[in-house]
This record gives sequence, structure tokens and C-alpha cells, in this order.
Amino acid sequence: MSARYLTNFDTNHLSSEEVDVLIVGSGIAGLYAAYKAARSGAQVLVLTKRTVEDTCTERAQGGIAAAIGETDSPLLHFEDTLAAGADLCDPEAVEILVSEGPECVGELVHLGTRFDRMGSEWALGREGAHSQNRILHASGDATGAEIQRVLSLQVREEQKIPVLERHFVVDLLVREGRCFGLLAYDEARHRLCVFWSNVVIMASGGAGQLYAHTTNPEVVTGDGIAAAYRAGADVMDLEFVQFHPTALAARDGCSFLISEAVRGEGGILRNARGERFMVEYHPAAELAPRDVVTRGILSEMESTGQSLVYLDVTHLPPELVHSRFPNITRTCLSLGIDPAKEGIPVAPAAHYFMGGIKTDLQGATSIRGLYACGEVACAGVHGANRLASNSLLDGLVFGSRIVERVLRENPYRSNVKRLSGFLNRSLEPGKPVNPMILRLELQKMMLEQVGPLRTADGLSRALSFFDGQRYLTGVCAEEPSSFEIRNLITVGELVTGAALARTESRGGHYRQDYPCRLEHWRKHIIFRRH
Ligand code: SIN
Repeated sequence: MSARYLTNFDTNHLSSEEVDVLIVGSGIAGLYAAYKAARSGAQVLVLTKRTVEDTCTERAQGGIAAAIGETDSPLLHFEDTLAAGADLCDPEAVEILVSEGPECVGELVHLGTRFDRMGSEWALGREGAHSQNRILHASGDATGAEIQRVLSLQVREEQKIPVLERHFVVDLLVREGRCFGLLAYDEARHRLCVFWSNVVIMASGGAGQLYAHTTNPEVVTGDGIAAAYRAGADVMDLEFVQFHPTALAARDGCSFLISEAVRGEGGILRNARGERFMVEYHPAAELAPRDVVTRGILSEMESTGQSLVYLDVTHLPPELVHSRFPNITRTCLSLGIDPAKEGIPVAPAAHYFMGGIKTDLQGATSIRGLYACGEVACAGVHGANRLASNSLLDGLVFGSRIVERVLRENPYRSNVKRLSGFLNRSLEPGKPVNPMILRLELQKMMLEQVGPLRTADGLSRALSFFDGQRYLTGVCAEEPSSFEIRNLITVGELVTGAALARTESRGGHYRQDYPCRLEHWRKHIIFRRH
């Protein structure tokens, strides 16, 4: 469900700017692409919805996977990624990820990223479904913040790339299958504006805020996926939503992540009766794939009648827990939980979208001039279930490949301004909804009906919910919370439609009425508007 545009506008009457490369989003994928493009001599502009640091990258704890250990190899990393992806990864994309990843990580180090070391060696951690210790981390459990710090510094201070904060990308300007730029809303000036460019790189993240419980920050509302879909881009694999098994469950709705690395260091999951249970569900126990651990937890929650389980590290040396996970320890202590003495209350929360805007192996979408990288994109690298700590790597590798491709093929400058004249007057004025109330309703419904456990009945109920919102498509949205709720509804309906269509279980998509993986479903669901 979506109209072509969210709002009425006439580009002839809006302030406008033209750049060589326009990047949407300031997480690892967007900033790394910005850095690479600027180094190639392009004039780059980054738009971000709130502040530069308000990203999933900033919150990433566990780390970044790279096959750099002595006993490791890209081949082992390839095999682990494929296995986690539940037979739906594109092997060529995975090959690129694991073989080009180490060099990109090396560049992060070169730029000043301080990954943790043990003596002269990298301190490589272990996470679920990895056969090797291959997770680089920084300040114990603050890896994303360190990468964000380095890339933000590079982009703003070293490369002098302008970054416009509080600029909400409303819609893409596409004509005859080519993207010429975008319409944005400048929150400080309360006005629409236009950015023209031959190269638009979408790196705006996933849609975790579709769910009542999520590890994602509030800004992650599926805006890039929805805008690309409205503009006619193919979107793929949206039914595959990864729930992280262990988000802190101390407060209602609190979504602070308790990194998988805690289980990697030996953390044990116990139910409310104090019993270790993951050994009953999978040979890898706590380090089983995330979907398996999530379902194990949900089943224990049901059998004990509690809405949480506990992650127990009390058997580990307290110094190890404190030094390896300072951020987690600090947060727990601030809530009166001492991980050295008691189990950390945890429950699953929406964490990562494996699907997104369909791209080729150089990040090109089905719309010429529009590229996508990071969580907003779907190059098939994660299949039906992403391997832990492959997401930061994905952002680097495919962000960089876009710039290489653009350099090869795309003359940056052109008079795209001459093509001005995009106009929409089709939407009715009016404010028929309270976006915040609708958002809460949507998030609750998505968690209940389109969460980690799905059935045809529940998914059909979800589709009826979306039918009930159809009237919104004819109404003009005028500010960010109205844009966001429409984007969430668009993406939510796509997720639900794909989940209903896929009558099997695979990776992050689990159908209680179709619990097996089926060979004839080893294919992708792709949506295109009209
Ligand atoms: C974590 O630290 O558990 C999250 C890592 C990831 O999602 O890859």
C-alpha cells in the first residue's frame, strides 16, 4: 500500500543543490562510501535524519567479522555465512564479502580504529554459528561507537564532506527508470528542499522500529526501503527479520543489546526456574543460530509463564566480564543488576532486516543512478539469516564497491537540474491520525502477528490491519513523524505479504503452520510497486 509520493511538492519552487554523490545515512555504510567517494575526487554530500551518530552502527557491540586469525580463512568464513543464511545466500556475494572484507577492515585500522589487542595480536572474539574466533571488537563491547568515531572524523574533519543533519529523505525523484535526486525535509527550517545528483547512495538502515521490542534506535523506520519501493525499485527478502535473542528485559520496552559475544565468552541461558535449556534445542547450545536461540527462549518463556530468561555469567571471572563488556556491565549496574552476581534478564528483540532494496554485486538497484548498501540493501549476502558481526563488514565492502562501480561507469557531473520539474499535487490535506498512537499500535501488532513466530491466521490479521490504514495513501504527510508512520506501514505490509506467501520456515522466517524448510522455496520474493 502506498501512493507514489508522501507529500505534495513542486521542485521548481523549492531550494535546491546539486552534488556529484549524494549519500543518505551516516552509519558505517554511508560514511565509508562517503569517504571513498571523496577520496576519488567527487563532491559528496551526506544527509542524515537526526544526528550523525544516531545510527545502528553507533550501538553495535559484538564487532566486525573478518577472517584474519591464524587458523581462519575466507573459505571458513564463507562456509559459516552460507550455513547461517539457511541456503538462501548468493554465494558470489558471500565470496566478495569474506574475501574483500579483511582489506576494508585493514583500512579502518589505517584510519585509526582501535580494535582490541592481546599483546601484539588482535583479540578475536567468538559469536554464534562462527566456527572460528574472528570477531574484532573495540573497547570490549563498544565496537560500533569506535568505528562511528573514526569514520565521522574522517568524513567531517579530514575529507571536509558536508553532512546535513536533521534532513529527512521524503522521496526519490525518478523519471523513466533513472534517479535524479531526492526530495528532503529540512527539520530546522521546516521546509522541503531538493538535492539533485546522478549518484544517490541509500544507506539509511533497516526497519527495526516496526516492532515493539527492538535493539534499533528510534530513527530506524524503513524510510529508505519505503522510498525506493514507492519510486519503483525492486525490494527483496523482506520476510526475513532477525530477532536478537538477548536484549535486556529489565524495563518495559528497554532494547539495550546484550551482545552475543557474552555467550561467545561462555554466558549460559537459564529459564526462570534457573535451568540451562539451550542444550535441549541445538548441539551448539547458546551459540546456535539466532533464530534457533530466539525460539528456544520463547518456548521457555511460555513454559515458565515469564516474559524473560536469564543470561548467566556468574561462573566467569568478574574481572573478565567487567573488562570484556564494560558497556554492558555499566548499563546493568545502572539498573541495579550486577552481572557478576546474578543472571541478566533478557528477551528477544527485532534486530536486523536481511531483506531490503535489491542490488547487484556493486550495489546498483533496479533504478539507474540509485545505489544501496548496508542494512537497507539486499545483495543476497545474508540469505535468510545473517551471521553475527557480518553486518558492519557488509556496510564496508558493498559501500566501497558502489564507489568503485560509479568511478568506472558514471560521469559524476551532469546538468540534472535541467530535468527539474518534478511535481505532485495529488494528495489531500489533513491530519487524520496521531502518528505516535498509530505507531505503537503497529509495533504491537507486528510483534504479535509478524514476529519470530508466524501463522497464516496471524499474518492475515496483520494484512487486515494494513487494509484499515489504506485511507492514509491519499492524505498529504507534512512532517517527519507522519512520513515515518507511512514508511513503517509500507514496509510492514511488504514484510507481512512476503511472510504470508512463504509457506515454509527458513532462517529468520518461522511459520508455525509450516515448520519445515522446503526445497521448492529456495527462492526469493521480490516486490515492485505496480
Ligand atoms: C551482538 O553484539 O550480539 C550483535 C552483533 C550483530 O548483530 O552482528
